[in-house]
Amino acid sequence: MAFALNNDTVTKTYGRWAPVYDVVFGAIFDRARQAAVAASEEVGGRILEVGVGTGISLGYYSARSRVWGIDLSERMLEVARKRVYEQRMTHVEGLSIMDAERLDFQPASFDVIMAQYVVNTVPHPNIALDEFARVVRPGGEIILVNRIGADAGARHLAERVLSPVAHRLGWRSEFPWQHFSAWLDRHKDMRLIERRPMPPFGHFSLIRFGKVVTGPIRTDPRDEAAYASTGNLEA
Ligand SMILES: C[S@@+](CC[C@H](N)C(=O)[O-])C[C@H]1O[C@@H](n2cnc3c(N)ncnc32)[C@H](O)[C@@H]1O
Repeated sequence: MAFALNNDTVTKTYGRWAPVYDVVFGAIFDRARQAAVAASEEVGGRILEVGVGTGISLGYYSARSRVWGIDLSERMLEVARKRVYEQRMTHVEGLSIMDAERLDFQPASFDVIMAQYVVNTVPHPNIALDEFARVVRPGGEIILVNRIGADAGARHLAERVLSPVAHRLGWRSEFPWQHFSAWLDRHKDMRLIERRPMPPFGHFSLIRFGKVVTGPIRTDPRDEAAYASTGNLEA
């Protein structure tokens, strides 16, 4: 039976992962998480972490960052809220239930959009990437950690065979770089800054896209107000 990724299956699947997520997916992916946070902090300012999950990376930010986390799964966010509360993370401004494909933020409201292990879990990756490009400011960056599938060979075959299993676990095993290059071709306002292989086995990459500055940068005070009124601040 085909098992497609959609918001319902994602919510149910990550609802089940929530209590054990950090134990299963913690240490193995931590080097890439730390690298992504370091890259985000090089840009600095207001950071939107999409698919923040249990908030496993939130402790890596310094106090000078201002981080807003969103996720589709309430149960993953419950773990994140507990973590933020217990560790008194004042740099976390908010945690909200929100769909990466329908971001409830004004255009250009963030300096950085960060998403780790997320783009290959959302039902429509292109729509999510379009949203990231919309809400990042010119001169800002989209920073991703993502699995990059093989284009050919034995690994490519294995990824295709394992695809239904991966979908049941809540992600795609096959995700060729071509997804990103085709998206980039459509977005003349975005450019690739860096693509760096990440452990384990270099099957993942840290990817940085920069939003091109085309005119003078203005800060609209209304964006500030819209940001402050979006989502909740239960953290
Ligand atoms: C593999 S986990 C990654 C969690 C965390 N970023 C990490 O580093 O471990 C994927 C996360 O993306 C969330 N997610 C999947 N689709 C989403 C969507 N459309 N909008 C927001 N979050 C989504 C899932 O609920 C889950 O928490």
